[in-house]
Amino acid sequence: MAHPRVAIVGATGAVGAIALDVLAQRNFPLASLRLTASPRSVGKRLPFNGEQIAVEATQPGLFADCDIAFISATDAISRDIGAAARAQGCVVVDDSGVWRMDAEVPLVVPEINAGAVAEHKGILSIPNCATTPVAMVLDALRQVARPRRVIAATYQSVTGTGAAALTELEEQVQASAAGGDAPPPEQYPHPIAFNLLPHIGSLQDNGYYSEETKMLNEARKILDDPDLAVSATCVRVPVRLCHSTALNIEFDAPIGAQQARAALRGYAGVTVVDEPANAGYPMPIDCAGRDDVFVGRIREDTALPNGIALWAVCDNLRKGAATNAVQIAEEVIARGAWLR
Ligand code: A2P
Repeated sequence: MAHPRVAIVGATGAVGAIALDVLAQRNFPLASLRLTASPRSVGKRLPFNGEQIAVEATQPGLFADCDIAFISATDAISRDIGAAARAQGCVVVDDSGVWRMDAEVPLVVPEINAGAVAEHKGILSIPNCATTPVAMVLDALRQVARPRRVIAATYQSVTGTGAAALTELEEQVQASAAGGDAPPPEQYPHPIAFNLLPHIGSLQDNGYYSEETKMLNEARKILDDPDLAVSATCVRVPVRLCHSTALNIEFDAPIGAQQARAALRGYAGVTVVDEPANAGYPMPIDCAGRDDVFVGRIREDTALPNGIALWAVCDNLRKGAATNAVQIAEEVIARGAWLR
């Protein structure tokens, strides 16, 4: 079978850069690769498999010559360029929140619902980077008992906001170390260095921020469980890479810590690191650059009936974004679902 012609829209961004790595590392079959970004980046060259590829401006007309486009830029680009690419017969794997809850758009974590790929009508979405690891943990555990209620507190790194937020954190840390004042924050409403911001996304009428609502709605869609209850508090933390989550999960039947550990150990894409007596648990600095969701601190919850408490860490740019997107494209190819 011929290989697809691929574009990365947002190739200069935090997710786009990792998408290039993931495509190369997974030896993704490519007939050609185009990289696009904003007009600011035109003329830049990005290395890929020993070549230097010139960055192009993102134009709606580009996609007649593309079979698969990964989009990770802005919501407006996902909406406008995503629709334009689809209209030209290019299959879109989108990283934004624009399409995820559209009934015609499969929202896919291949370990959970790879079969949904076959139903695409030109656009597929990856979940929010904080939702993917939670959905995978719930999917692993529902082999033992059905999760009914989830309380999640996240600790989300600045690369989830983008490359500019990482620069902002580093400038604030450097200014503090030098005893000076950092420039006023631009990416966040407050300084992020040495601070915590319980604020990700836009405020909803019910008092939750949108990132918290995404975890509820997206987990229900991916797991095909409209009755699942999720209450999340999403917190931005001064960590470069990896989102961590403290989860308390109530099930419809008793589930022991050993059973939970075994189910998680047996689940593709999850690695259990659970030796608390030896200070063994997942941490962002160990999980960065890796594809699995790492889970530890697995214990029976003292507050919830039939409850499990645990801690999960996931590289938000890899499984939280680029790796999941590339895996979806691999599923599209395996099903021949990109052919015009
Ligand atoms: P650029 O680097 O030229 O600004 P991040 O998530 O790290 O902030 O990255 C966002 C990505 O989206 C970058 O590749 C960025 O390109 C791209 N981008 C931002 N605005 C636009 C735009 N108006 N048109 C096309 N790409 C855009």
